[in-house]
Amino acid sequence: MGQNTRIRHAVLRTKVTSAEHAASLIAPGSTIGMSGFTGSGYPKAVPIALAARMRAAHQSGTPFQVSIWTGASTGPELDGALAAADGISLRLPYNSDPVARDRINRGEMDYADLHLSQVAPMAWQGFLGPLDTAVVEVSGIRSDGALVPSSSVGNNKTWLDRARQVILEVNRWQSPALDGMHDIYYGTALPPHRVPIPILRPEDRVGEPALRCDPDKIVAIVETDAPDRNLPFAAPDAVAQGIAGHLMDFLSHEVARGRLPASLLPIQSGVGNVANAVLSGLLHGPFEGLTAYTEVIQDGMLDLLEAGKLRVASATAFSLSTGAASRLNADMARFRDRMILRPQEISNHPEVVRRLGCIAMNGLIEADIYGNVNSTLVMGSRMQNGIGGSGDFARNAFVSIFMTPSTAKDGTISAIVPQVSHVDHIAQDVHVLVTEQGLADLRGLSPRRRSELIIARCAHPDYRPLLMEYAERARHRSLGLHAPMIPGEGLSWHQRFLDHGSMLPSSD
Ligand code: COA
Repeated sequence: MGQNTRIRHAVLRTKVTSAEHAASLIAPGSTIGMSGFTGSGYPKAVPIALAARMRAAHQSGTPFQVSIWTGASTGPELDGALAAADGISLRLPYNSDPVARDRINRGEMDYADLHLSQVAPMAWQGFLGPLDTAVVEVSGIRSDGALVPSSSVGNNKTWLDRARQVILEVNRWQSPALDGMHDIYYGTALPPHRVPIPILRPEDRVGEPALRCDPDKIVAIVETDAPDRNLPFAAPDAVAQGIAGHLMDFLSHEVARGRLPASLLPIQSGVGNVANAVLSGLLHGPFEGLTAYTEVIQDGMLDLLEAGKLRVASATAFSLSTGAASRLNADMARFRDRMILRPQEISNHPEVVRRLGCIAMNGLIEADIYGNVNSTLVMGSRMQNGIGGSGDFARNAFVSIFMTPSTAKDGTISAIVPQVSHVDHIAQDVHVLVTEQGLADLRGLSPRRRSELIIARCAHPDYRPLLMEYAERARHRSLGLHAPMIPGEGLSWHQRFLDHGSMLPSSD
């Protein structure tokens, strides 16, 4: 045990062991709740040791797989290592790891893509089955045995409560000044015992700063010193800047009309480079005293906090580049009072999102001319990441905004299509659609008016005439004219891409 141990509980200090020994306590076929959310706060040593056991078992002809539940995406040491060892039978509720994604798309791994706010209550409902082991990264253990979370909270509270046995990783890389940043709410229950969640403003703290865990359930503690995944964000390109510009104009317009306060309403910003570019837009925009009630705190949000534009940010995890993570870790005490990390059940809770009136901003794969949105399945079948928290926020937001470049894959795919190949968000949950081409405010409009606006404002010029021509023909060939469509043609663009590598008709 190192001199600088973060374990201040005498009995728990005696449980420090190796990752290999901790992994040996996990049985084949079991269900494991692991920490981790958007590459933050996931265990980094035990999953690698578990993957080694799995490989050895496979070599001796004995299959060794487990079910893995997490907060959201993790890192190569967890999803990557276990998927490469063919060690995951079922994964939920979100994945962005490329190795695991390939296995999911080859049909070798079951994947349940769930709304992130619903995972903890579903675990309590019981239909997911028992949870055998929790493997949770923390940044320290207090002298009373309370666990100080690390860079994400995710579903850790539920895993610690539900699991039969608990394995902890105590990560020295995480800043000790994280202690005091978290707010762990212990007031959730299943119906008919649910009570209102008393969060009235993004900055409200309604729980405890650390996680409770029965010390008798803790069977092993592994000390680590390893960074989070911390992927870089791309510098905003012209397309992302275009999207951000349209969005800033829209928000200014809403303020000018008195439909939003001058400091806006709590913002929620989704994952990905476009979302991060929009946060950069806010950095240079006219709005002051902003707040965020969101899922992850990315680089752009840290910049807003540093610049004093953002007063407070509530989330469940950090999702930072390496540079931003070092900046934050070096200066955590300065940020601690203006950031709150909560369980994802609370950061994404529909009741709170609706009460606060969040401005939700999420990315998408494709939208159709009526504003239905596909966030997850490329060409209707290849899983990209998962729905994440986009449904939690979009359905309950004050204004639900979806944004995307107007084309993908070098212009061979239009993000605006006659009909989406899969639906994650129905048109009623899509209030505003933005591409670099323009912004369509769809609120209160009929489907036909929505389609005119989406085609005129959001579609790329290469695809706009084709969409107009489709919409015109649909008006003559539809059964009804409320939302005209030609059933046999709606997905023909996707078929053309699959057959010829482009949604554009060939010129010969
Ligand atoms: N057809 C095929 N591929 C498409 C596509 C389409 N219509 N639209 C995007 N893609 C591909 C991109 O080419 C890119 O592929 P690459 O990784 O091979 O380069 C990838 O999808 C990501 O797209 P990108 O344009 O970089 O956007 P992004 O980083 O903003 O991500 C989503 C977009 C939809 C994948 C992402 O927002 C997501 O996973 N959303 C669901 C979860 C969510 O919304 N969470 C937030 C809740 S808080």
